[in-house]
Amino acid sequence: MAEADGNGGLNRWSLEGMTALVTGGTKGLGHAVVEELVELGVTVHTCSRNEAELNKCIHEWEIKGFKVSGSVCDASSRAEREKLMSNVSSLFNGKLNILINNVGTNVGKPTEEYKEEDFSFLMATNFESAYHLSQLAHPLLKASKAGSIVFMSSVCGVVSVTGGSIYGATKGAMNQLAKNLACEWAKDNIRTNSVAPWIIRTPLTEPVLSDEKFYKEVISRTPMGRTGESKEVSSLVAFLCMPAASYITGQTICVDGGFTINGFSFPGT
Ligand SMILES: NC(=O)c1ccc[n+]([C@@H]2O[C@H](COP(=O)([O-])OP(=O)(O)OC[C@H]3O[C@@H](n4cnc5c(N)ncnc54)[C@H](OP(=O)(O)O)[C@@H]3O)[C@@H](O)[C@H]2O)c1
Repeated sequence: MAEADGNGGLNRWSLEGMTALVTGGTKGLGHAVVEELVELGVTVHTCSRNEAELNKCIHEWEIKGFKVSGSVCDASSRAEREKLMSNVSSLFNGKLNILINNVGTNVGKPTEEYKEEDFSFLMATNFESAYHLSQLAHPLLKASKAGSIVFMSSVCGVVSVTGGSIYGATKGAMNQLAKNLACEWAKDNIRTNSVAPWIIRTPLTEPVLSDEKFYKEVISRTPMGRTGESKEVSSLVAFLCMPAASYITGQTICVDGGFTINGFSFPGT
């Protein structure tokens, strides 16, 4: 059992010498995860749809001395996912320690207004991409003898948050998938977990957070009285991939300043 032995003698709190694929690493949470993993010794491959932005990030990482490569890939396309995993396999000699299924987005509408194309777009981007990439990564993760998948879920997959029933359903599906794969692939030394953030300031959430009324409502509903930082999510993602987390699998862990445990406040208390 490679992981129970502390990853072949390496430090339990290090990811030194490991390899990772992080989807959607040019912005927001994915960008923070790439940097967190690299700083802990991981060689990372990432992807995004915008070639110019991807090249800019790779260049900035090169200047910092970070070991990051990238592919242009639309993770919602089956053919592009297959090409991406084939690149990863060639790059890392048929082995992969870490898969971070980070790509995701939202189209916020009341349920009655969703169109067929909204449903297929969100399902393909948020859930099918993560499902299929996990399938494609399975032989590589197994070959590494110490594999870890982290799904970038959301509190919207744990409790009801208005503004996107399809988004919530895709994230709830990810949380369930983390449980199924944890049981199916434990025999292959692959652990699978979900990380569920509440609102973190990223290019995705910047437009809604700039609405002052919405921002105040978010703050008032969050016991810690603030939104989260990308680094506060990437640290949990990295921990879940470490030998130190070797007995944690199938879990959904919220990073939410207390949002999901906040019930009701009586006046004056
Ligand atoms: N921010 C939050 O408050 C929050 C809270 C809970 C959960 N999450 C989840 O965290 C994940 C990241 O969110 P974020 O806020 O960091 O989003 P973001 O700021 O929009 O960044 C998304 C990243 O993914 C890439 N991407 C998007 N669609 C893609 C596709 N089809 N194929 C390949 N790359 C794609 C983007 O680059 P391109 O656009 O160039 O492709 C970008 O690098 C999502 O799954 C989101 O649901 C976010």
